[in-house]
Amino acid sequence: MSGLLITLEGPEGAGKTTNRAFLAEFLQAQGVQVTLTREPGGTPLAEEIRHLLLAPREEPVATDTELLLMFAGRAQHLEQLIKPALARGEVVLCDRFTDASYAYQGGGRGVDQQRIAILEQFVQADLRPDLTLLFDLPIEAGMARAKARGQLDRFEQEQTDFFNRIRNTYLMRAEQEPERFVIINADQPLAQVQADLQQIFPRILEQLGG
Ligand SMILES: Nc1ncnc2c1ncn2[C@@H]1O[C@H](COP(=O)(O)OP(=O)(O)OP(=O)(O)O)[C@@H](O)[C@H]1O
Ligand SMILES: [Mg+2]
Repeated sequence: MSGLLITLEGPEGAGKTTNRAFLAEFLQAQGVQVTLTREPGGTPLAEEIRHLLLAPREEPVATDTELLLMFAGRAQHLEQLIKPALARGEVVLCDRFTDASYAYQGGGRGVDQQRIAILEQFVQADLRPDLTLLFDLPIEAGMARAKARGQLDRFEQEQTDFFNRIRNTYLMRAEQEPERFVIINADQPLAQVQADLQQIFPRILEQLGG
């Protein structure tokens, strides 16, 4: 038995966490076992690494330090949580995953995509998401939503250019792997976003069955 790894991606405030809950409710109503998780984080140790990554700090964080911490947390998350859940046949709904490393550390920070690909291979071997939902919206719209939530973390304090590079990297990756990605227009009222999301529910059930 092998489950499905579904990742939710997109910039700040795109609605990943909100729609993860919506998707989980649907799957659970179908009798599917669901594991909800997120990156960076997902296990106690990986959540400690998340805290190291997100905390605003005076000391500049070297891009390689940030990148390696992301993958260190991912290695822990995969071994302790994701792979065991997939082995039990569950659907893992993960709020951000390796596409976020390409978008944030690659597009945002300027790390060469090839170096990220080396770490992806090192940490994941051939494990890739079965489906990636990309919640896309203009940066300003997402930031306005994120800001309304309060204190900004170390990433959220970056400038608009940084986030535009992230958005563009996500869109480029979606274009390169159209069979894995589904782009959701997140710049709509939540009811409409969720109506769009419902369109892919049959596909998810089909992937789970096959
Ligand atoms: N389509 C929508 N229209 C308006 N507000 C929305 C919509 N979707 C989500 N929101 C609201 O925007 C805020 C951010 O949503 P959410 O936390 O789901 O985004 P996120 O992508 O998980 O953000 P982050 O990257 O910061 O974790 C929340 O307050 C949520 O209720
Ligand atoms: Mg979120």
